[in-house]
Amino acid sequence: MKRVFLLIGGVLLIAAIIVWWAVTSQTSWGDAEKATLRGLWIGSLPALPADPSNAYAANPQAAALGHKLFFDPRFSSNGEVACSTCHQPELMFTDGLPLAEGVGTTTRKTMTIIGTAYSPWQFWDGRKDSQWAQALGPLESAVEHGGTRTQYAHLIDEFYRAEYEAIFGALPDLSDRARFPETAGPVEDPSARAAWEAMTGEDRDTVTRVYVNLGKAIAAYERLIVPAPSRFDQYVEALLNNDGKAMRAALTADEVAGLRLFIDRAQCINCHNGALFTNNDFHNTGVPTAPGLEPDNGRASGVTQVLGDEFNCLGPWSDAQKEDCSELRFVTSEGGQLQGAFKPPTLRNVAATAPYMHAGQYATLEEVLMHYNHPPIAPIGHTELEPLGLPARERLQIVAFLRSLSGGVSAPPEFLQAPQ
Ligand code: HEC
Ligand code: HEC
Repeated sequence: MKRVFLLIGGVLLIAAIIVWWAVTSQTSWGDAEKATLRGLWIGSLPALPADPSNAYAANPQAAALGHKLFFDPRFSSNGEVACSTCHQPELMFTDGLPLAEGVGTTTRKTMTIIGTAYSPWQFWDGRKDSQWAQALGPLESAVEHGGTRTQYAHLIDEFYRAEYEAIFGALPDLSDRARFPETAGPVEDPSARAAWEAMTGEDRDTVTRVYVNLGKAIAAYERLIVPAPSRFDQYVEALLNNDGKAMRAALTADEVAGLRLFIDRAQCINCHNGALFTNNDFHNTGVPTAPGLEPDNGRASGVTQVLGDEFNCLGPWSDAQKEDCSELRFVTSEGGQLQGAFKPPTLRNVAATAPYMHAGQYATLEEVLMHYNHPPIAPIGHTELEPLGLPARERLQIVAFLRSLSGGVSAPPEFLQAPQ
């Protein structure tokens, strides 16, 4: 009899220890871990950084104009493609496709624009160094908007003259179609390019000035689109307030276990850190080439492009002083580590932005975790990843944690839909 009681007592004790462990592991963190979590918390996101290269970055009228331009499909070769075609607010400013589709099909997956004001480099390969310079890329890309600089300047003249002039001053007289052709620009299309080259240097600069201002207005709009707090942020806030009950309400035990793996054994934190879960640097993680595409050398080309870009921080169209351009001046421009390296995207709202990776190679977050568990041989350069060997249960816990990062967007509400 006595033995039976001892046995039951032992079992109860073990059960109590398990319960105690489960409850405390959901809420207890060491000091170093707490500091890490605070760094990931949205409350650690600094105020919007200034963009000295764009004198209109913080101009509300420019943001209002940029909002209209972002949603206006007239700014394309076929009248059907706007920035919002690919950057759809309902999909956290992505499009749900592996490869983006504008007037043609691109070779990359659409990235979100949420929080990109914080990033010194734009695009998967960082071939642009500001939001305004970025915006000028797709507008002239043959597969995205497919239009030209003179076309866009004429559209501003026709539909946005008053708004433009209130911000940037008088719009030049572009009415002479012999000097300012309907479509001309430094683009792929040979006839538009020939028309551009036939213009005088001064007239080209006149048009480029309007084009640049269009980009600066769009950037003023995009700056205001930042992430909103998620359940993960509620959890960290509760942790910082020592409020165990609120912590348990914010994240489940599995999500917390996933968070623990994320910052510890799985080493995700090495590249996905800071309040946007990206270090804004470039890494080769050996993501396979998507079917039908050429191997993509990522940052190795991106850095050459940004250094040669007429719209970069040091260029003639930038409003910055040389001292403001330290990111560009001191950029790493050589080295094998740039081969096949890409920018780690923000993981905020990642549950809503499938498929994943630079060419949408993975359909689900579970597939992404399989990649990190058994990193393949890199198609170009060398992967920085080591196999993780996580069992299925732990991979699912990390996925559960990633799903807790969905907090949506913080922006003036009218900016999240097409202008009325
Ligand atoms: C055809 C679809 C499409 C259109 C139209 C489009 N984009 Fe994109 N956007 C993409 C793709 C694809 C990428 C990634 C391309 C790459 O890295 O080469 C991207 C990247 C970006 C990024 C970089 C985000 C980051 O984290 O680096 C920003 C910002 C952006 N687009 C804004 C815009 C703006 C502003 C416009 C309109 C002027 C626009 N896009 C038009 C598909 C599109
Ligand atoms: C060595 C740096 C590095 C580490 C470590 C790392 N990542 Fe990444 N992550 C990246 C890069 C770079 C990309 C984009 C790669 C590409 O598209 O080719 C990426 C992409 C992703 C994406 C896809 C996001 C999107 O919008 O397409 C997810 C999800 C992700 N990582 C989660 C994780 C998780 C979870 C871990 C830990 C298991 C982790 N990462 C570890 C660098 C890293």
